[in-house]
Amino acid sequence: DDAHGVRHTDVLIIGAGLAGLSTALALPQTLNVTVLSKAALDLCSSHYAQGGIAASLDAKDCTADHIADTLIAGAGLCEAKNTTEILSSGEQAVQWLYEQGVPFTQIPQQESKSHIKAGFDLSYLHLTKEGGHGCRRVAHADDATGRHIMEALVIKAQAASNITILPYHEAFHLLKNTDNRCQGALVFDHVHQRQLTLHSRAVVLASGGLGQLFKRASAPNVCVGDGVMMAWQAGCRLANLEFIQFHPTGLALGDSSFLISEALRGEGGRLYCPQTGKRFMLDIDARAELAPRDIVARAIAEQININGLGYVHLDVSHLPAAFLQAHFPQIYQTLLDLGIDITTDPIPVAPTAHYSCGGVVTSANGLTDVTGLYAAGEVAYTGLHGANRLASNSLLECVVVGRHIAADIPRYLHATKKPDATSIYINSEQSIYDIWTPPMLADYQRITLPSPIEYQRHANDHHNANIHTSINKDIAGITTQLKALMTSHLGITRSAEQLEQALGQICQWQQQLGGRSFDHIDTKSQDHVISYHTLPYVQLTRQLQLAALIMQSAYQRHESRGGHYRQDYPNLASKPLTSIIEPPSLTAFA
Ligand code: SIN
Repeated sequence: DDAHGVRHTDVLIIGAGLAGLSTALALPQTLNVTVLSKAALDLCSSHYAQGGIAASLDAKDCTADHIADTLIAGAGLCEAKNTTEILSSGEQAVQWLYEQGVPFTQIPQQESKSHIKAGFDLSYLHLTKEGGHGCRRVAHADDATGRHIMEALVIKAQAASNITILPYHEAFHLLKNTDNRCQGALVFDHVHQRQLTLHSRAVVLASGGLGQLFKRASAPNVCVGDGVMMAWQAGCRLANLEFIQFHPTGLALGDSSFLISEALRGEGGRLYCPQTGKRFMLDIDARAELAPRDIVARAIAEQININGLGYVHLDVSHLPAAFLQAHFPQIYQTLLDLGIDITTDPIPVAPTAHYSCGGVVTSANGLTDVTGLYAAGEVAYTGLHGANRLASNSLLECVVVGRHIAADIPRYLHATKKPDATSIYINSEQSIYDIWTPPMLADYQRITLPSPIEYQRHANDHHNANIHTSINKDIAGITTQLKALMTSHLGITRSAEQLEQALGQICQWQQQLGGRSFDHIDTKSQDHVISYHTLPYVQLTRQLQLAALIMQSAYQRHESRGGHYRQDYPNLASKPLTSIIEPPSLTAFA
């Protein structure tokens, strides 16, 4: 880069998880690609994915059945066209990963005959089963699918001469040119503790989810939703933020973020009340432990509420020990190190914030509302996950949408190329929208964002509410308290009263931070400098704002559907509507 920390690249990818690296590796090698990772390369949710990648590969399965199961789990809120488009590419996605070197688990050939569709390269691929899937549909690499996938893709990306990966580089603001096209980002380089300006011809947001806004989460600690907020501030709509999926079985041991894969229940694991020994799922749903996640998570939360222990038991000790050790080596060893032998002992589990079904509104090709800005993976909302994501559909979405983006970018770059003797430049009569069509939404409700005065009213109304009365002024203190607040007031069950209290609390914190907040820094000028000292304020201000947006979405959804359960509105509304938050330029809240 030059002396002022300015760099140029063709395509800037923010995030080095599965969506980011699938895009990078599928782009033409003639393009210069820069991939940013906020921290170490393995600190991304993809790396921690256990279960696998869903695709209809069994000879008896078909895409239509996969779509049907996805729509049922999504509880009326899946976007039908994108869902069909993404799930139809399942087979190619698994094939592509295999070609990149991912060591998918296979069945020893002498054991049985192939169950896989004729013509698929991996005819002895082992498929596992997870909740909500009507048949075995999940390709996996042991019980550490994400780690195996990411290790293979990182090797490929590091070997590619057109790809530069920059670990410990955190994007914090998207840059737009005068005709509103996204053309880069302001980035904080944590290695040299300095700000960089990265100019690019297209930007791909693949920055992951927001689980770490909650106290117990399966995502690594970098996942706090900053990508969602950058996109929103750049002019993108956000959808369905209230649909946070809680995984039923996080390990309930201290602050552990370790997940106990649904595949354990898929292979026969059972849930018990530790005190009575009752297998409680039998009374709740005909599918028992393999009911959709929201149902299992709510049932566990209810048991925990009654038993006061903070966990229930997941038991697999009735399954053969050799099978458990062979199929779940990572879970077996991790728990053994913690003193739990899963072949004989029950596992303490509790729900954990796991996945954001909503996000930046995108098409199945990753196009957003801002020309030149693509999004893929957990940061994005394609509508595939509806009100409740079906297990293992998200790795699939990362690969499919990432590869679609990689196919679209050359078309976009060509259309926006500066005029020269051989190219056709978009002239004044041809709108950029001829090549960039913002994603469409059918039935939606607009979330209204109250003015700061109304937030203050919430704060005053609940002045005596017994929540977090000792407000710690320091950043770390508020960050920790925010997580506790999100878990207690925006968890598996919600109510208007809880949400009003929480919004009031957020308002108080925002007022405390007010003078030093990011909004007071002029981000329009590319000259301003974020330092090591101001970055934490930027981060926390954003987190508070995002928390308020999620709460507003939950507050204004007067029904219970999928992952969103309102005590005060326990029924489904007659018409399923997607929640939309318009970008700050269109709202009063900015
Ligand atoms: C799991 O292994 O249970 C996680 C799978 C997923 O969340 O898709």
